Amino acid sequence: MGQIRFLLNNTPVTLTDPTPDATLLDWLRETKRLTGTKEGCNEGDCGACTVTVSALEDDTLTHRALNACILFLPQLHGKAIRTVEGVAAPDGTLHPVQEAMVTHHGSQCGFCTPGFVMSLYTAHRDGRQDFDDVLAGNLCRCTGYAPIIRAAKTSANAPTPDWEQDETDALRALESPEDIALEGAFLPANLDSLATWYAANPDATLVAGATDVGLWVTKALRSPRPLAFLHRLRDHQRIVTDDTGITIGGGVTLSRLRGLMTTLHPDFAELIRRYGSVQVRNAATIGGNIANGSPIGDGPPALIALGATLTLRHGPTRRTMPLEEFFLDYGHQDRAPGEFVESIHIPTQPDRLRCHKLSKRFDQDISAVCGCFNITVEEGQVTQARIAFGGMAGIPKRAKRVEGALIGNPWTLETIQATLPAFAEDFTPLSDMRASAQYRLKATQNMLLRTFHEDQGTPTRLVGKGAA
Ligand SMILES: Cc1cc2nc3c(=O)[nH]c(=O)nc-3n(C[C@H](O)[C@H](O)[C@H](O)COP(=O)(O)OP(=O)(O)OC[C@H]3O[C@@H](n4cnc5c(N)ncnc54)[C@H](O)[C@@H]3O)c2cc1C
Ligand code: FES
Ligand code: FES
Repeated sequence: MGQIRFLLNNTPVTLTDPTPDATLLDWLRETKRLTGTKEGCNEGDCGACTVTVSALEDDTLTHRALNACILFLPQLHGKAIRTVEGVAAPDGTLHPVQEAMVTHHGSQCGFCTPGFVMSLYTAHRDGRQDFDDVLAGNLCRCTGYAPIIRAAKTSANAPTPDWEQDETDALRALESPEDIALEGAFLPANLDSLATWYAANPDATLVAGATDVGLWVTKALRSPRPLAFLHRLRDHQRIVTDDTGITIGGGVTLSRLRGLMTTLHPDFAELIRRYGSVQVRNAATIGGNIANGSPIGDGPPALIALGATLTLRHGPTRRTMPLEEFFLDYGHQDRAPGEFVESIHIPTQPDRLRCHKLSKRFDQDISAVCGCFNITVEEGQVTQARIAFGGMAGIPKRAKRVEGALIGNPWTLETIQATLPAFAEDFTPLSDMRASAQYRLKATQNMLLRTFHEDQGTPTRLVGKGAA
């Protein structure tokens, strides 16, 4: 028998052997009858189920908006959960974000409203005011966003209500250094425990952010067992910088990676801004984004272009490889049973990375094509090129013929034009619901042209960094 402990709207909760793939959303609505948290899509896309999850990270209290529909109960251990029922004062006085939603008519049918309130509540606690990003994961079908953004701006500088409690002490009391074994699930406390357990249980499913695994349960109706949850592994969430570069633990979330890349490789940060939504990026890890082997994952093309290496671990044994060598074929990676992604290393280098994500919607959409270019030009000549794409093959893949056609040639429009046919030698893309093969091939060529024009100082972007 094992237990998990967490806070729900400041009240301590202990669950003994919860169903390991029961979602927070179902538990809130069906067991606790807290029905303010809504189910819209049940797959992380609409934000109707947004809750605030607070935790101690290096003894600092952090607050994250997460989608309760793809958050499993064991992932709550040691955290403080706040739902829409827990933001107003005990006497019913509304929180400033709720008050502003009323005043600015931010709600019509009201189905999406709890999710918006929770995203705004989390931003208010964090002092965030980038509301276009904060709300990109919350869909509203009837009110329209203008009144909601007005409400967000009005409430942004309101003081923290005096009924808001700091959870730091309560969370410290929940901390425990031991592994936790539940019926059908294991919650290791550190990487060594995970490595030993996974080597002995190679058929287990690892759960990091659950932004993929969550959908196996809610959409594919699978019940993978046993599960090993990685969220307690502080040593898997480290970012270490030395002379050779930066080593990123596989458990680092996309939100943290975005923050890190803002100064190191800003185009990678901008690419991550368009990765899912705040709620998805707060959960999803870079280890999961690599390990799932998706041909359309956004992390691998940028990391491959940066020359990243991957460290895999099996028990006490580690091996390291260039990231591109991990992806063998569609659905097939160079990972043995019981082996997991421990870390990713990006070598120190000047920033030359340019990333282009092409999707049908700007926000919260999977890439049709994601192209990343890391091209070194010295005295007018291309001396190095690492170019990688998602969405162009069954795996994230380098454009080696294109790289070869550029290296040693002058960095001119003529060279670029002469290089364009090489894309068809590197890739034979598929047609699917996101894009036709012909469109994909044309898009890759245009991405190289765009990279060149941007390098020449021509603004090419309508939104975001370098907007024209
Ligand atoms: C609404 C939504 C939007 C999304 N948008 C994007 C997007 O724009 N771009 C994009 O690239 N992806 C997107 N995704 C996909 C998903 O977020 C990513 O693939 C994510 O990085 C997976 O990470 P995770 O930590 O959630 O993995 P999980 O779901 O926990 O795990 C994914 C897989 O990796 C395995 N795994 C996890 N960690 C490890 C490890 N350390 N070692 C070995 N195996 C491991 C798991 O067992 C599982 O097989 C989206 C998903 C959703 C639900
Ligand atoms: S119900 Fe849509 S994101 Fe959870
Ligand atoms: S108020 Fe109806 S969906 Fe937003």
